[in-house]
Amino acid sequence: MTLLVEALPPLQRGVFVTGTDTGIGKSVVSAWLARRYGADYWKPVQSGLAGETDSQLVARLAELAPERVHPERYRLREPLSPHAAAERDGVTLDLGDFHLPETSQPLVVEGAGGALVPLNGAELMVDLMVHLGLPVMVAARNRLGVINQVLMTLEVLRSRDLSVLGVILTGEENRVNEEAIEQHGRTAILARIPWMEPLTPQALLAASMHFDSTTEPY
Ligand SMILES: Nc1ncnc2c1ncn2[C@@H]1O[C@H](COP(=O)(O)OP(=O)(O)OP(=O)(O)O)[C@@H](O)[C@H]1O
Ligand SMILES: [Mg+2]
Repeated sequence: MTLLVEALPPLQRGVFVTGTDTGIGKSVVSAWLARRYGADYWKPVQSGLAGETDSQLVARLAELAPERVHPERYRLREPLSPHAAAERDGVTLDLGDFHLPETSQPLVVEGAGGALVPLNGAELMVDLMVHLGLPVMVAARNRLGVINQVLMTLEVLRSRDLSVLGVILTGEENRVNEEAIEQHGRTAILARIPWMEPLTPQALLAASMHFDSTTEPY
């Protein structure tokens, strides 16, 4: 199951969860973090409304009460890059439209796609991270190619002077990948979340409980 590598860092206001790609586990990592920190969840831009949205998935997995899941600022119909989905819906995303929701809990904010996904003709997801002012965690799937993907993402985040809290990997353990990411990325692997079949709240809770035998899950 999940192994402790470093204790999770304390959160002030919250954390922005970005990733190396779409579909690599940002929502699963966000659900896990929400449970671990006792945090609220916010997905600023949801692209694609067919089926379960990210807010619904995270609420289900982390068993969050509805008031702990803040409404998306944009709900775009097509499962495309935000700039393209917005264009299809006839809207233009603007950084000034995004404000952190009010809450007394820490907040887990999930991006869409990776750090360099366009929001509009001029701005990228990484600009939203700077705008919101939260430190960042990088979610990635532990598979061939992950070292390069994580290191490139870290370069982008640091080029904007964002505070990087660390990396969370999903999937099989691969020590070689993890050591390379820590060494070349000058960062910590904060956790490894196992591949869960089936993906249920109980499996996520079990992953959380195995994270650190000295700490009770939230
Ligand atoms: N640890 C895991 N165990 C089991 N299934 C997983 C795990 N992580 C991800 N998955 C599967 O992969 C799918 C994609 O993961 P997830 O939705 O977390 O990706 P994402 O990076 O948030 O994608 P998006 O860019 O759409 O927000 C999940 O719906 C789930 O089916
Ligand atoms: Mg997601």
